[in-house]
Amino acid sequence: MINTAAFVISSPDVSMCPKSLLPEYAFIGRSNVGKSSLINMLCHSPRLAKTSQKPGKTLLINHFLINGSWHLVDLPGYGFAQTGQKQRQQLKTMIERYCLLREPLVSLFVLIDSRLKPQTIDLEFMQWLGENEVPFAIVFTKTDKLGKEKLAENISNYKQILLETWEELPPVFLTSAEKNRGGDELTAYIEELNSTIADRNI
Ligand code: GTP
Ligand code: MG
Repeated sequence: MINTAAFVISSPDVSMCPKSLLPEYAFIGRSNVGKSSLINMLCHSPRLAKTSQKPGKTLLINHFLINGSWHLVDLPGYGFAQTGQKQRQQLKTMIERYCLLREPLVSLFVLIDSRLKPQTIDLEFMQWLGENEVPFAIVFTKTDKLGKEKLAENISNYKQILLETWEELPPVFLTSAEKNRGGDELTAYIEELNSTIADRNI
């Protein structure tokens, strides 16, 4: 479980990220989906990553050191229409370069708003990850905003859509930063991956 979390650095490009080789996990998804809020929930620290009601809050690659032994990374969101074309392209490049070039990256977590129908931008992004062999899991956010039945229906529908193009589903997590749900499962999954890496390095 997460005992300590400390901000390390904000970087404008993957080439400026920490030289450390500690295993790394990054949160990605559309602007406002709840990436920064989920990091704060996992770290039991409401102000660690900056959040906002307005999309476009996180604009750099933010590293956090967890338990002194791995990194959690908060990335800017994609697909925010209000930022200018130039900034949108810059953020896209920042995200793509990070995903393709960041060596210690073990897995991405693609965050999806549980209230919405599958969005083309998310499906295309996951397709791109697949084509580039970047491992990822899916994290549904804001589950507190839906009743139990509607939530189950949306998740099941999402999985069906994914199975139209994917042979196998990635790991799926259900979370609410508002109600503090789903954190233990997510942390346990990361710790499982960390121990696999540690075993491999022995
Ligand atoms: P960018 O940095 O702009 O890409 O956004 P982000 O994905 O980091 O989103 P952020 O964590 O800043 O949250 C956006 C808004 O959604 C804030 O108003 C949060 O309070 C709200 N929010 C995040 N997670 C949840 C959740 O689980 N439930 C509810 N009800 N609101 C949430
Ligand atoms: Mg953010």
